[in-house]
Amino acid sequence: MCGIVGYVGHRPALDVVIGGLRRMEYRGYDSAGVAVLDGAGALNVERKAGRLANLETQLDTVGRGAFAGTAGMGHTRWATHGAPVDRNSHPHRDASQRVAVVHNGIIENFAALRAELEADNVEMASDTDSETAAHLISRAYTEGDTKGDFPASVAAVCRRLEGAFTLVVTIADQPDTIVAARRSSPLVVGVGEGEHFVASDVAAFIEHTREAVELGQDQLVVITRGGYEVTDFHGDAAQAKPFTVDWDLSAAEKGGHEYFMLKEIDEQPEALANTLRGHFDGGRIILDEQRISDQDLRDVDKVFVVACGSAYHSGLVAKYAIEHWCRLPVEVELASEFRYRDPVLDRATLVVAVSQSGETADTLEAVRHAREQKARVLAVCNTNGAQIPRESDAVLYTHAGPEIGVASTKAFLAQIAANYLVGLALAQARGTKYPDEVAREFAELEAMPAAVQKVLSTVDQVRDLGRRIADSKAVLFLGRHVGFPVALEGALKLKELAYMHAEGFAAGELKHGPIALIEEGLPVVVVMPSPKGRAVLHSKLVSNISEIQARGARTIVIAEEGDETVRPFADELIEIPAVPTLLQPLVSTVPLQVLAAEIARTRGYDVDKPRNLAKSVTVE
Ligand code: M6R
Repeated sequence: MCGIVGYVGHRPALDVVIGGLRRMEYRGYDSAGVAVLDGAGALNVERKAGRLANLETQLDTVGRGAFAGTAGMGHTRWATHGAPVDRNSHPHRDASQRVAVVHNGIIENFAALRAELEADNVEMASDTDSETAAHLISRAYTEGDTKGDFPASVAAVCRRLEGAFTLVVTIADQPDTIVAARRSSPLVVGVGEGEHFVASDVAAFIEHTREAVELGQDQLVVITRGGYEVTDFHGDAAQAKPFTVDWDLSAAEKGGHEYFMLKEIDEQPEALANTLRGHFDGGRIILDEQRISDQDLRDVDKVFVVACGSAYHSGLVAKYAIEHWCRLPVEVELASEFRYRDPVLDRATLVVAVSQSGETADTLEAVRHAREQKARVLAVCNTNGAQIPRESDAVLYTHAGPEIGVASTKAFLAQIAANYLVGLALAQARGTKYPDEVAREFAELEAMPAAVQKVLSTVDQVRDLGRRIADSKAVLFLGRHVGFPVALEGALKLKELAYMHAEGFAAGELKHGPIALIEEGLPVVVVMPSPKGRAVLHSKLVSNISEIQARGARTIVIAEEGDETVRPFADELIEIPAVPTLLQPLVSTVPLQVLAAEIARTRGYDVDKPRNLAKSVTVE
């Protein structure tokens, strides 16, 4: 969850590192720190609790003169071990202050390592697991077989570490070299002219180069001005995967918007179009990587979708489509629960793992569990080459572009679209849909970017509503069929952005308990199904709305244009375009995103960086 960047080259390292941290702050914002090697043997470190801005102010106070070197590294933290205070901020140093380390992940055996160091009279300066790595690397570098060998010292320590980690290490004696290593946490190398970068995410260096190399599991890289070298943790040469980043700097910047999230909401039509592009060719749905044969797809007798948060909600939407199109049972599981409840999996099970980042620890572990049980795994992911797609048998990339706002918006819509493609690919392989039916479904999907654009052109009304209900204590969300996951997503957005109590319910459950929550003035958002496409459910929901209105709730109804039956029951009516039933979440979610963002803004919260959260949850 933390963001890491390292640089060796010809530019002032501090500027490169701070620029990189700015673009990675979405990964964690509890504290930030930098280390710069000045070339004359000094390793200068500054770190500060809170946002990156605090660190920058601190640097201005102490003076940036000491940070004039062209090699350095930085870190933005999401706290795991130890409170978010200055002394727990990275970089951490060894006792001699000659070795500095930044770390992402969790060193699971840190208690034993710490005890070993303390028994050796090493005094710990922080409460973190990460600091142990600095002391161990220092010891490896100053004694024993690896003495004086920087990469070998890091590799030797990596072999002892358990858990997930990305480490970037500097040693004052070697001012032109940075060593980085990874296990189950992301690390990419940026390849420039006379300069090299290491980072958790390409966003950190996209301003300088789009040529990147993705490190594999248990690999280590040494970067210098002139090149980079990848090995495994035993020092043997290893293959890493070069790639060119297919988006540019503007995609990682706000482009005139107040927040990334607002920009990302606006980018949804494009994100959807990009996700669909190229996936229907020669009359067939095409995935990006497919190492599962059509015969295996035909043999599938059960589908699990595993995911977390918004990605999980996209899976709940997919269930309706996949069951309908493929006549296959689909279970949607919270990835964090999946492997702990002994799910019934075998070769005929297809597990669809949905993750924007591709590095969510719970989802990754669910994938690993599924593969151990011989199930086939198909990843739906927004991040090229991330760990989850790497460990899967097939991959469908969403092409939503970088999503920086912590709250998922465009990635969520892209996941819904991609999940539908997975459903169509299965239906096509299994023959539960004729080719012309698959083509028709795809054409309907292709019409969705324009429908989402239409919703976006009408959201001023939603913003106004958001300002008017911003002081409510709670908001409830109701939906049925595919509107139910939309209600869950609307509630999640409001919780994470506005820190308000919000719950999503299947409207049919109302009378089984939640109606007791209804009180005078409580805003209740209802996602209406189409009066034509789902007439029976529509009339049941109209009854539900009238029941809650009779009990004093303030009804906010999201309904298809021209749905006049619902108008008398809506204190606020938000109209969305009429689209095929299964595709409605792509339009009905958008007002809920805008509503949550506007309520959060009105309450004075940072929409991009909600408290206690981080974009990628790389720890369980
Ligand atoms: O990167 P992933 O899609 O695996 O992330 C899953 C969730 O952590 C994520 O969707 C989270 O719930 C978002 N903050 C929701 O807005």
